[in-house]
Amino acid sequence: MHKNTMKKIFITRKIPEIGINMLKEKDYEVDICPVEKVPSQSKLMGHLKEKPYDAIISLLTDKIDASIFRAAPNAKIVANYATGYNNIDLKDAKKRGIVVTNTPGVSSLAVAEHTMALMLALTTRLIEGDKFVVAGKFKGWAPDNFIGTDLSGKTVGIVGVGNIGGRVAYMAHHGFGSKIIYTDVVQNTKIESDCGAQRFSDLNELLKVADIVSLHVPLLESTHHLINESHLKLMKPTAFLINTSRGPVVDEAALVRALESKTIAGAGLDVFEFEPKLAKGLRKLPNVVLTPHIASARESARRDMAVLVAQDIIDFFEGREPKNKVV
Ligand code: GLV
Repeated sequence: MHKNTMKKIFITRKIPEIGINMLKEKDYEVDICPVEKVPSQSKLMGHLKEKPYDAIISLLTDKIDASIFRAAPNAKIVANYATGYNNIDLKDAKKRGIVVTNTPGVSSLAVAEHTMALMLALTTRLIEGDKFVVAGKFKGWAPDNFIGTDLSGKTVGIVGVGNIGGRVAYMAHHGFGSKIIYTDVVQNTKIESDCGAQRFSDLNELLKVADIVSLHVPLLESTHHLINESHLKLMKPTAFLINTSRGPVVDEAALVRALESKTIAGAGLDVFEFEPKLAKGLRKLPNVVLTPHIASARESARRDMAVLVAQDIIDFFEGREPKNKVV
């Protein structure tokens, strides 16, 4: 193939070599945005205008909307290097006939394990204990030091039982004997038979009885602030809220108030409403465990995500339907 007819791929930040090499092996021209941190919208647009790119590999931190599509008028596919795709204006992409793909499944194990880690960190008060020791405050064992809660036998309420929520159900039930209850728009007969999970048609009812509520829904208009002030008030004062999905699923300011007033016992968050900013007061609370959106940060997951985005682009340009097409 002559160089001029080669497909040009723009990647908004470096992803694992394995995916880049797959594209290069097809003789595609691959450019990686030369940035160390999240590129601004105008920076991205500037780079995209440099060449007639045929495809974009985006990250969850990139806002892919009409201005980006206009800056890359040749781009026919955007492969999002993430499971979630709320960063992409799907309506606009669809209107322009641009295919959008994502990377589902390959990070589910990592995210489910991270979810369990947040649950355990809260119930065992692991981080509080660590900070105490590191601060030099540990002066000897005491029977009432950092009394935690058993995770075993608790009722875990899972909101959204797709790949990730389903794995959390399995780990919590088979690892800790948790009773699993869930809400989802579709019934999940697999977790019902594998974990004895019970489906609740009403989120409010689930919130009233769960000891731990774990969120695993995509961010959509319908799930924005799915957990708001009134929902938090329904939860038990001993309950924990875990969010490894997307920050805006929870009204974070309302959550801070609920944690301050002990409406609920604690929260484990890997995602934030205005990431990377945190709601006022969140950082100071003792009853939270906060991680910097790293639930899927494993070499295996990142590698497999890179393979998926590359393969979907290759399939698209070779006339096959990309496996992970969203629109
Ligand atoms: C991570 O948040 C992802 O959506 O892959």
